[in-house]
Amino acid sequence: MSSLVNIVSWSQQLACEVLSPGDLAVDLTAGKGRDTYTLAKAVGLEGQVVAFDVQATAIEQTTEFLQTNDLAVNSWPTDQTLPEQSGIFLIKACHSTIDKVLHHPAKAIMANLGYLPGGDQALVTRPDSTLAALEQSLGLLAPGGRLVVTVYPAHPGGGEEGDVVASLLALLPCDAWQVLRLTVVNSPEAPYLLVAELRQFLS
Ligand SMILES: C[S@@+](CC[C@H](N)C(=O)[O-])C[C@H]1O[C@@H](n2cnc3c(N)ncnc32)[C@H](O)[C@@H]1O
Repeated sequence: MSSLVNIVSWSQQLACEVLSPGDLAVDLTAGKGRDTYTLAKAVGLEGQVVAFDVQATAIEQTTEFLQTNDLAVNSWPTDQTLPEQSGIFLIKACHSTIDKVLHHPAKAIMANLGYLPGGDQALVTRPDSTLAALEQSLGLLAPGGRLVVTVYPAHPGGGEEGDVVASLLALLPCDAWQVLRLTVVNSPEAPYLLVAELRQFLS
């Protein structure tokens, strides 16, 4: 059932609506693989999806979910530039290494912050590495591309992490960037979305 306040669903929609078959898309936090799967469906077999996670469990769960849904998966060494080759590439590393592995700008980059549902809550995204990854990601977006960040303010540190992300995006010049914040107005602890789109200037 769809829900107006399903922020994860909005995040997937806002990422996928700028994607076409053959594009490059990135999931900065693979987790259980739901976002990776959604991106993979949007870019098709001719596209490339790159997904990071620091946890072996998350990489395993993502692999299992994708394979169960008939998608092939490649694992990739952490600090080598990816080939310009279609497919899904899973990287067990911090997302702040994104600038080492991407070979060209991406059309959508998703970051669903927080911890792995049902997993170790100590292995949560943290402001310093999140900021490093998002700063790099802004420089790795193609024109018309979007950075889509889901923030979870309810867990310890989640609110501060969201503030760091919002402060970064608030500095983007509005002649080149459109930045959106989507919140559940009557539930302050609910997840919210921050989205930055690099404007595409038509010649
Ligand atoms: C909310 S979950 C992601 C959900 C996922 N996108 C999905 O569709 O199932 C957050 C994930 O971020 C991962 N994570 C935490 N710190 C990270 C880091 N520095 N780099 C990459 N992944 C990280 C956690 O291991 C966890 O799996």
